[in-house]
Amino acid sequence: MASIVVVGAQFGDEGKGKIVDLLAEKADLVVRFNGGNNAGHTVVVQGKKYKFHLLPSGALQGKKCLIGAGVALDPLVLKEEMKQLEGEFSPKLLIDPRTQIIMPWHNALDGAKEAAKGKAKIGTTGRGIGPCYADRANRAGIRFCDLVDAERLREKIEEGFAENENVLKKVYNAEMPVSKEAIFAEYNALGKEFAKSMADVSMEANRALNEGKSVLFEGAQGTFLDNDFGTYPFVTSSHPIAGGIFTGVGLGIRKIERVIGIVKAYTTRVGEGPFVTELEGRLAESVREKGQEFGTTTGRPRRVGWLDLVLLRTAARLNGFTEIALTKIDVLSGMKTIKVCTGYKCNGKLLKELPADLELLSECAPVYREMPGFEIKGSEKKFGNLPKEAREYVAFIEKEVGVPASIVSVGPDREETIVR
Ligand code: GDP
Ligand code: IMO
Ligand code: MG
Repeated sequence: MASIVVVGAQFGDEGKGKIVDLLAEKADLVVRFNGGNNAGHTVVVQGKKYKFHLLPSGALQGKKCLIGAGVALDPLVLKEEMKQLEGEFSPKLLIDPRTQIIMPWHNALDGAKEAAKGKAKIGTTGRGIGPCYADRANRAGIRFCDLVDAERLREKIEEGFAENENVLKKVYNAEMPVSKEAIFAEYNALGKEFAKSMADVSMEANRALNEGKSVLFEGAQGTFLDNDFGTYPFVTSSHPIAGGIFTGVGLGIRKIERVIGIVKAYTTRVGEGPFVTELEGRLAESVREKGQEFGTTTGRPRRVGWLDLVLLRTAARLNGFTEIALTKIDVLSGMKTIKVCTGYKCNGKLLKELPADLELLSECAPVYREMPGFEIKGSEKKFGNLPKEAREYVAFIEKEVGVPASIVSVGPDREETIVR
C-alpha cells in the first residue's frame, strides 16, 4: 500500500500541481478530495503549460483520475477541461455519485454576496464554491447521482431554482442568470455525457490500496484557507488540510502513509485576509514578476511576502506532514539577503503558531531572521550542488518545521526538480 497526500502548506498556489504531476508517474490513481474549480494547478512539461481546475493533475501521466465526494463540481468547467486535453491525453475519469454539483445560481449568489459585503468582501474566485457547500450543509444540494438522472434532476432544479431565485431577488436585488428550462436542458445533457464516469470513489480508492496499488491524493487550496483552521472568515468552504481526505474520499484515517506539505519558498495569497509577512512596493513587484504570481484561475495579482515559519509550524501540526516539498526557491535567486519570519510579536508575547482570533492576529508583528542570498539555476539536479546559502535556507526550514524537504523545486518545468 502506498498512499501519498499532497496538500498546500500556506494559502494555496504553492505548486501542488507540479509536484502531483511528478509523483503521479509512480501512482495508479490520482484523487481530488476537496474544493472545485476555484483551484488552478499548473503543470509544465517541456515548456508546454497545462492548467487544471477540476481534473486531477495526474492526467498528463495517463493515470486514472478520480473526483471524490468532497469536491464541488461544475460540469461546464469539467467539459471544457476535458476538451482542452482532447487529442493529446484522454484521462480515465471517475466521479463519485455523492459529489456536489455547482449550479448557475451558486455562481450568481457568490457574486451577489461579495458585492453586498463591499469592503468586507472575502475576495472569492466567484466560482460558486461557498453557496454550493452551504447547500450541501443545508441538505439542499444537487449531487452527481441526481445530475445523471433526468427525472430527479428536473425535480431538484424545480426546488433549487424557485428558492434561489427568491433569495437572489429579495435579498440581493439580483437576477437569476439563466431560465429554468435552459438550465435543465444544459445540465441534463451534461449528466448524460458524464454518466459513464460515475463510480464509488471511496470503494475504488480503498480497493486499490488493499491491492497494494499506489494512490495519490491531490489537495486543492492550502492549509490557511481551511474552513475551520484557516484565517476564518477569509477562507474557502471546504477542507484543504489532510483531514479533508477522510471525509472527502471516504477513507479510514489509518490508510495514509505519507503527507507531503507543499511549501513555497516565500508566501503568497490571493484575495482578502490577514498576511503578516506581506511585502509592498518594489520588492513585492519584483518577486511577483519573477515568480509569475498571477492567479491561474482568476488572473488576479497575488499578494507576496516572506516565508512565514509560524504558518509552517502550524501547518505541520494540522496536517501531520511526514515531509515537505519546497518550491520556487529559484525565485529568491539573486537577492542580497532573504528574510524568514520566525515568530510573531503580539502584545508583548512571542507567538510560534498561528492564533485563531483575527483581531489578535492584526496586532501581531513579524520577527525576522535575515539570511544571506544565493544564485540558483533551474537545470540543477543535485541538492549538493546548490550554493551553501541555499542549502542552509532549506536546512533552517527543515529544522523549524521538523520534517525533511524530500523535494526541492528549482523551476516550473517537470524537469526542474531535485528529488532527494
Ligand atoms: P498550485 O495551485 O499549488 O498547483 O500552484 P499554481 O499552479 O497555481 O501556482 C504555482 C505556479 O508556480 C505555477 O505557475 C507553476 O508552474 C509555477 N512553479 C511551480 N514550481 C515552481 C518552481 O520551482 N519555480 C518556479 N519558478 N515556478 C514554479
Ligand atoms: P489552488 O488549488 C489560492 C481563495 C480565494 C479567496 C478564498 C475563498 O490553486 O491553490 P472561494 O472561491 O474558494 O470561495 O474563495 O480562497 N482561493 C485560493 N487561493 N489558490 C487556490 O487554489 C484558491 N482557491 C480559493 O482567492 O481568497
Ligand atoms: Mg493554484
